Amino acid sequence: MTLATAIQLDTAFKKDVYKGLTSRPKFLYSKYIYDKAGDKLFQDIMAMPEYYLTNCEFEILSAHVAQIATLFGKSSEGFDLIELGAGDGKKTKILLKYLSNKDTHFVYKPIDISVNAIDGLSLTLSKELPNIDVEGETGEYFEVLERLQNYHSRKKVIMLLGSNIGNLLHERAINFLTSLQEVMSREDLLFVGFDKKKNPQTILDAYNDPTGVTAAFNKNLLVRINKELGGNFDSSKFKHWETYNPETGTAKSYLVATEAQKVLIKDIDLEVHFEKWETIHTEISQKYDEQTVEWLANKSGLEIVTSFSDEKAYYTNYVFQKKNL
Ligand code: AVJ
Repeated sequence: MTLATAIQLDTAFKKDVYKGLTSRPKFLYSKYIYDKAGDKLFQDIMAMPEYYLTNCEFEILSAHVAQIATLFGKSSEGFDLIELGAGDGKKTKILLKYLSNKDTHFVYKPIDISVNAIDGLSLTLSKELPNIDVEGETGEYFEVLERLQNYHSRKKVIMLLGSNIGNLLHERAINFLTSLQEVMSREDLLFVGFDKKKNPQTILDAYNDPTGVTAAFNKNLLVRINKELGGNFDSSKFKHWETYNPETGTAKSYLVATEAQKVLIKDIDLEVHFEKWETIHTEISQKYDEQTVEWLANKSGLEIVTSFSDEKAYYTNYVFQKKNL
């Protein structure tokens, strides 16, 4: 960029898009998929038969809600239930309902990057479970961590469901889990959902549905750049491509240019060239085995209290506490 055309990269979105599309290989961060349209597409994904993750976690929470609620509720002064990436809260409602019927004293603090998600969730909860104290907040995980420091007057339970942790490669997952551990007190708990390694075909199918919902979800990055940054991507000239490495457990999403093309993104004064078959890496969805979760916990100063799995052992929710040194 020259001085004459100095355009301000004055938002994180602009900066990240500029950086990602001027890098080689190109990339975009998946967190930017979630605008209003992206939230809707993710809801559609969760309703697809191929996307087993949601049903598995739903099954786990339903089957073990009493035990989970007892673990969480063990505190004389009640507790704060903080959910990172709450989304539509479909799975959490099982737990919320149970806790409110048991007269447990707690405040539910859903936090999400999407304003729509938090507004929607607060509204449905006020109708469906009016007895619950809900204090929603908008923000990114790493921003939210600082605010979590203020929750230290009583027990807190931090929840991270939906295998959202899987968007982070191990090193970043360890950084994140370590930061959570650092704001935790002895009695605090961390409840995290992990998608497990399984038949690689089952995993590929979950991210490669025949109706193209996942493709539209992935391409929403381009649609959003068009909408918000004055871009002129033609998403029909990109193909959604999913890979899964059964050794590392890493599923990766790409958008692949099906022809050579030039894209202009006005608001960041960027002309992007794509060669035919050039890629944009857009998302990581990590899958885990037991040893890897133990290793992540150990590296992050956490220890496993207990865990719950679905019948097929596709998915596991772990309860962690601060390691006793
Ligand atoms: C919401 C990040 C857990 O990686 O499985 C679904 C997002 N991407 N289909 C996942 C997603 C494609 C999802 N997470």
